[in-house]
Amino acid sequence: MSVYVVEGGRRLSGEVRLQGSKNSALPILAATLLCRGECVLYNCPQLSDVEASLMILRYIGCTARREGDTLIVDTSGADRCDIPPELMHRMRSSIIFLGAMIARFDRARMTFPGGCELGPRPIDLHLSALRTMGVEIGEEHGELDCSVTESLRGAHIVLPLPSVGATENIMIAAARARGTTIITNAAREPEICDLADFLNACGADVRGAGESTVVIEGVDRLHPAAHAIIPDRIVAATLMSAAAVTGSTIRFQNIVPAHLGAVLPVFRDSGCEIERHGDSLAVSAPARLKAPRLVRTAPYPGFPTDAQAPLMSMAAVADGMTVFVENMFLSRYGHVGELCRLGANIRVEGKVAVVDGVRRLLSARVRACDLRGAAALVVAALNAKGTSMIEGVEYLERGYESFELVLSALGADMKKI
Ligand code: UD1
Repeated sequence: MSVYVVEGGRRLSGEVRLQGSKNSALPILAATLLCRGECVLYNCPQLSDVEASLMILRYIGCTARREGDTLIVDTSGADRCDIPPELMHRMRSSIIFLGAMIARFDRARMTFPGGCELGPRPIDLHLSALRTMGVEIGEEHGELDCSVTESLRGAHIVLPLPSVGATENIMIAAARARGTTIITNAAREPEICDLADFLNACGADVRGAGESTVVIEGVDRLHPAAHAIIPDRIVAATLMSAAAVTGSTIRFQNIVPAHLGAVLPVFRDSGCEIERHGDSLAVSAPARLKAPRLVRTAPYPGFPTDAQAPLMSMAAVADGMTVFVENMFLSRYGHVGELCRLGANIRVEGKVAVVDGVRRLLSARVRACDLRGAAALVVAALNAKGTSMIEGVEYLERGYESFELVLSALGADMKKI
């Protein structure tokens, strides 16, 4: 079992090149199944969730090899339309293979995806959308048996809420369906646009990604393509929080500031200076942060739920009180108890957390229980006086590539043992 050891209080400085987005890479890897040939994905991060996707692709019969941050996936040998439970349970996002398998084989057999640390994460929207598109779905003993008897057909799908995963599953299936699919109330996240860009590079006809209505005209064949994954906006927000709690300045080389539209104002409200030059951005923190007043998570372009935990560590050492409202997931405050062990003053009532900033956190041994919570604990430990130990590194490695090396290169005293 690995542990992070962090000596807090070091100033950070320097430049960061952001890793590719996990939440883009996962659906795009699933979508390669539609292409029958060799797809090349640039800026594809080395993460355990990416590895889990590759294990599924290899089980199905694909090959994959890595050259630095480039992944080359050949799906021509894919010949299985089932995913065994042990691979489904590795990550919740494995459900994104459902639309891809249906589109390729007209059949998919898998279990419900792995349990989740963030509370119940149903897939009812994925299933009802696919049913509308002509997929018959049997659900028994936790297993899904899906098949298309006539043909996968385009449909008008109105999502009751803009689910990211459901929008992606529909887009992938619809790319090969007969006729037109219209998704109303689609998710608008940048990762949806990245998936659409990949599908279109492969010959699909997806229009409107990034808006609430996405229209997909099904095509008979998709061909392999090369695609560069967008930079990870949540890793950017996490590193900006790290700069904020250490009174530091760091510069990002390959950031897309527009993807951080709801996040940058929170840093500005905290007294950080944000300087933009094209696709590079620098954040400089003041000696003492001011508390941002209110952070409410919402679907994009609102404030991302994935950035809630790291920014809470920033609020924990700001001057004043911050109210967080978590609107996306039921149990997304698993990090709060551990932040309090590090000396933070936070109270939670339902979906509201009230953070009363302290001057400085104190070191402790803490345990992460989910991906972004783990990142929040690292950010907090960078501020804390003394040496902190963080357990649960495996959660962090689902989404952050070589995080201890990235932070050490910026001057942090952090190692993995
Ligand atoms: C994706 C992201 C995750 C992020 C989340 C919200 C990936 C791999 N993961 O997860 O990092 O935190 O978006 O921005 O991209 N819901 C239902 N029924 C469904 C589907 C979703 O009720 O069938 C609910 C969920 O319980 C949740 C809300 O919708 O409360 C949003 O979930 P969704 O957008 O689907 O998140 P994911 O795609 O799972």
